[in-house]
This record gives sequence, structure tokens and C-alpha cells, in this order.
Amino acid sequence: MTDWSTSSWRSKPRVQMPDYPDQAALQAVEAQLARYPVLVFAGEARRLKKHLAAAGRGEAFLLQGGDCAESFEQFSSDAIRDTFKVMLQMAIVLTHGAKVPVIKLGRMAGQFAKPRSAPTETVDGVELPSYRGDIINDLAFTAESRIPDPQKMLRAYTQAAATLNLLRAFSTGGYADVHQVHGWTLGFTDDEKAEKYREIANRISDTLDFMAAAGVTAETAHTLQSVEFYTSHESLLLEYEEALCRRDSQTGKWLAGSGHMIWIGDRTRQPDGAHVEFASGVQNPIGLKCGPSMTSDDLKQLMAKLNPDNEEGRLTLISRFGAGQVGDHLPRLIKTVQEEGANVVWTCDAMHGNTIKSSTGYKTRPFDSVLREVHEFFAVHNAEGSVPGGVHFEMTGQDVTECTGGVRAVSDEDLSDRYHTACDPRLNASQSLELAFLVAEELSNRRSAQATRAAG
Ligand code: PEP
Ligand code: CO
Repeated sequence: MTDWSTSSWRSKPRVQMPDYPDQAALQAVEAQLARYPVLVFAGEARRLKKHLAAAGRGEAFLLQGGDCAESFEQFSSDAIRDTFKVMLQMAIVLTHGAKVPVIKLGRMAGQFAKPRSAPTETVDGVELPSYRGDIINDLAFTAESRIPDPQKMLRAYTQAAATLNLLRAFSTGGYADVHQVHGWTLGFTDDEKAEKYREIANRISDTLDFMAAAGVTAETAHTLQSVEFYTSHESLLLEYEEALCRRDSQTGKWLAGSGHMIWIGDRTRQPDGAHVEFASGVQNPIGLKCGPSMTSDDLKQLMAKLNPDNEEGRLTLISRFGAGQVGDHLPRLIKTVQEEGANVVWTCDAMHGNTIKSSTGYKTRPFDSVLREVHEFFAVHNAEGSVPGGVHFEMTGQDVTECTGGVRAVSDEDLSDRYHTACDPRLNASQSLELAFLVAEELSNRRSAQATRAAG
């Protein structure tokens, strides 16, 4: 790591990155971005790392969520507000179950670049380069649209800056007041299945009433009024990441200024590749997706590269195996971590291993598979004596129909109604909240089991 620089990734093998046809245009954009202000600050990234360190010890819980891919066209303050809102609601429900602080981390303000399973896409016999996210090319199926355009990085930066500006205002402006968040409608109808959610919601209400009666209100307790909200994205487009890298004046360490946490995708985690090289040298918390093909040896190498000092909160391992497969893969990775004595935060991405094609032709994810993967994640950690530190969802506050199932059941036939994602299917607000109740139940069962063991 001694020869690391913001551009040392350039001499490593790279995958999933565009070849820009106009290099001069690319360099002009990189130079411009390099002069722009960073979007996040080193002190914030360090604070997030401290919270993640607590999650690794079971003293906090991570909720990471947001769009699969942010889009230029669907950019709106309502969409940001609604996702922020549902994440806050989920966090309250999770806090109630876990009895520890919940870290709110959006897949927001930078989640633009997408790895793809194939370099090209064929429609009606016409083959074109794949869409790689709005920061790279355009979703429209024309040859022109699919040419990588470096100017899109500037637009992504501007959108990320505006998104963060709004999130910062929401976080401190009283909008995040815990009483308000709870008062927002939970959106469940009088369904029988929703009964237990209402019960939990009532218990949370009682607690808030008690606190208010005891004199703890948003006016007297500042922490009830404001919230810490962090941003994250996949660090895929390294030209963009490098241009926003800055040296932190306090510590002399480098910061990826594009988001608080950056993660490495399951397709770009080659230990000697460009993406791991870039992430190894910045001080931000780093996420690492772990799919079924990750071996113990891969993980050992990656931990040595990404967290050589074994710093707590530095590395979050985001497992994404698919329902029914967690037991086949997670135990070997947990054993590796235990053997190495490594500090990590284990979280569960219950989305990316559960994508299927519906009978109506849409890419979807059944709610029950998402839930099952979460359940298996908890079961394996409970059995192995490791700490389930968080969950990771593709979700939106909008009332979309992209994933099937849930209390307000979305069927295969419903998918065409409001299918708006630019990439993978997302949970809608109601499905997200329902999951929060179910994860809270897992957390609360785990606490009871631990208490029973301690008593026995
Ligand atoms: C994603 O998080 O959108 C993604 C592409 O995930 P993975 O790298 O796990 O496939
Ligand atoms: Co995705």
C-alpha cells in the first residue's frame, strides 16, 4: 500500500468500466471535478466509522437502503423526501426491536454507476452496448445513447450535491423529529396480518407518550429532533471517484469525497484489481459485497488489502447469497473472519441474490425470498456466535410495483402498473416498512435468546 496514490488504480486490471471514446473530453471533466468542493467531509466519514465499529460489536445496527440506481429523469425532491422518510420510520421500528441506535445510510447522492451482467444487450435482433447508469450513458435503446459521455459525471455531481443539501436540511430541520416520524401514516390497511405491526407501533407510541410526560420532548432533547443520515454508493466509476478524492488536512489521510461510505461490488472485488486498489487508500468506511463465489482465500486477501490495521468500522461485509443459499456460504466466511480475528460489520443485502423474471416478463424479487434471506442471515449468525450488524435493501419511498408480495400484496400482473426503476426492482414504502417490522422481530428474538443464555 506504500505506493498507493489516487491514480494508482490506473495501472491495475479494471472491469465494468467504460472506455470513453473522447479522452480529451474525459480529461477536461476530470480536471473540472477536481476543483469542485467535496460532497462529504472527513470528520463525517470518521463519525460514521465510529458508529459502524459499534455495529460490529452489536452495539448499533446498520440500515442501508435506497435506489438500485439513481436516475436523472426521476430526480425530484419528493422522491428524496419519501425515501428519507421511510428509512426514518424503519429506523424507529428497528431501534425498538434492537434496543440499540440504528445507523441510517442511504444508497443516495452518488449511486449512479452500474455493473452489468453482460457488456451488450440485444433487443429485436439489434445489439447495443449495455446501459451502465446515468453517470455513464443513457437508458434509451439507441446507439447514440449508449456511448459513454464524460459530461454526465458533472450532472451526477450536481444532482448528488442537491440531494445531499436536501438530506442535510431534513436531518436537522425538525422534519426528523421522532414524534413526527412516528405520526406519519404507516400505510397498512386493516389487514389481519398487519395487526402485529400495529401492536408494535402502539408500543412505540406509548413509549413516546411516556417520554413526553417525563419532560423529554423534541424541544428539551436535541437528539430527538435531528438525525444523522449518511450517504453511500458503489465506487465503480473510478475517474469520478479519483477526481473527488482529497487529502484531509487534519490527519493527512485521503478521503473519497463522493460519499461517506463507498462499497466494492461483487463483480469488481478482484484482490489485485483497480477497484480494490482505489478503496484501499482512502480512509472512508468501505463496504464489500460477498456473493456465492467468494472463497475464504479471497476474503483473507481482501481483508489484508482493505483493512491491514484491523480497524473497527472500516470494513462492512455485505453478504448477498440468495434465499436458501446463506447456509451454504456464510458459515465459511464467518469462520475465516473468526480465524483471522478480523473486525468486520456483517450485513445482509437481501436483494441481489433474489432477482427473478416474473411470469409477466418483469425483473422482480419476491418479498418472501427477501425475508427468507434475512431470516437465514440471522439464523447463521446466531449459530456461529457472530454479530448480525445490519441490513441492506434496494427500496424507495414511492409506491412502486417492482417487487412482488407483502401485506398489500403486489402480484406478477401488478408489476406493469408502476414499474419505474432504472435498474433492479425496489421494495416500495409499505414493503420496506413491513420488512423493518420483521427484522425488528429477529433482533428482539436474538436479544431474548441472549438474555436467556445469560440467565441460565
Ligand atoms: C448493487 O448493489 O446494486 C449491486 C450491483 O450489487 P452486487 O455488486 O452485490 O451485485
Ligand atoms: Co441493484
